[in-house]
Amino acid sequence: MCGLGRLLLLLLLTPLWLQVSSLPQPDTPEGKATTAGLILSALERATVFLEERLPDFNLDGIVGFQVLQVQLRGVHKVWAGEPQLQLLNLRVGRLAQKLLTLLHRSTSYLKLSDPTYLQEFQPIIQPGFWKLPHSWTRTNASMVYPTFETEDAFSENHSDHCLVQLLGTGMDGSQPCRLPDFCRTLMTRTGCSGYSLSHQLIYFLFARMIGCTKGPFQQNQHYMDLFCANMMNLNQRVEVARYPYPTQDLFMENIMLCGFGGFVDFYKFPWLEAILRWQKQREGCFGKPAPEDNEFSKAAQHHQQFLTRVKRREKVFPGGCSAHNTAMAVGSLGGFLYALAERPPAHRKPLQSTPSPPSVF
Ligand SMILES: *[C@@H]1O[C@H](CO)[C@@H](O)[C@H](O)[C@H]1NC(C)=O
Ligand SMILES: *[C@@H]1O[C@H](CO)[C@@H](O)[C@H](O)[C@H]1NC(C)=O
Repeated sequence: MCGLGRLLLLLLLTPLWLQVSSLPQPDTPEGKATTAGLILSALERATVFLEERLPDFNLDGIVGFQVLQVQLRGVHKVWAGEPQLQLLNLRVGRLAQKLLTLLHRSTSYLKLSDPTYLQEFQPIIQPGFWKLPHSWTRTNASMVYPTFETEDAFSENHSDHCLVQLLGTGMDGSQPCRLPDFCRTLMTRTGCSGYSLSHQLIYFLFARMIGCTKGPFQQNQHYMDLFCANMMNLNQRVEVARYPYPTQDLFMENIMLCGFGGFVDFYKFPWLEAILRWQKQREGCFGKPAPEDNEFSKAAQHHQQFLTRVKRREKVFPGGCSAHNTAMAVGSLGGFLYALAERPPAHRKPLQSTPSPPSVF
């Protein structure tokens, strides 16, 4: 049993809400530059937040910025060949450089705050771990589970244990790519939703990043197809439910992870607009909306009581800023920027066609 079943059920029952677009569509050079500029400004502000809070940031928060750094380097490389984007690209290069310095400094703070967790997960904040997708694909809606399991027995503990075996960072000194039966069962079971589902995807994504190819890892792409199809389904429900606050973190996590896995249909223009709206203008962070400035807070409170799962390592700062929300926001926004640079509308080739709503990029 696993997942956020009751929450999903509520999402299904919420009336359809159609969003009004306010950004220019990025299908002209001007629209593209405007969109890229807005994403970049949001990322610059979020990086100022990271800089101010660096000593208190946890590893789960740092990961999002590590992902962003890789995406920015990717954008910088593509735009080097586009003369009309040189001013923007200067900013991209500067931000990537600033992040490199901050990420380097963050390690000494993490050593003090959570040395064991750092030792186990250090690979994922190392330069070179995250490799950008070398090809794009789309989710396949026919892989969505007929039903999702309703209870969550998939603890972060178990998931961490399996990730440590995979990364080969445990105290037993074993090699990477180890897949005990217990983890195989946990990581390949069907019907999961919520954070359990995203952890299953993380598992196979990490396996790809470190190059595990034996046994079940031969079917790596199949599992990623399966999990991302279901994560897409979940995100679509979140959109229909008008993005209640308790689901925003997972919504962005799904975009960051599946987007990084090469599923380009996660980069939907309305989803980009929604995420940009959630940034707190003063702090530059992402997190709990202030009651007065959020028209959705009633819906959020309604959903909150059904969302019993609390992320164990969540770190909340003054002003409602969440390290995890901010990390997932920058990791997903970096993905939007990379997709915008890497797959400009004019060069888009049709991908394998599966029935799914159009993505803008
Ligand atoms: C989508 O998934 C279904 C069921 O697994 C499969 O039969 C179909 O070939 C897939 N479509 C594509 C385009 O991969
Ligand atoms: C998680 O694992 C640790 C060490 O294995 C254990 O001490 C702790 O009780 C576990 N917590 C839960 C919630 O299972």
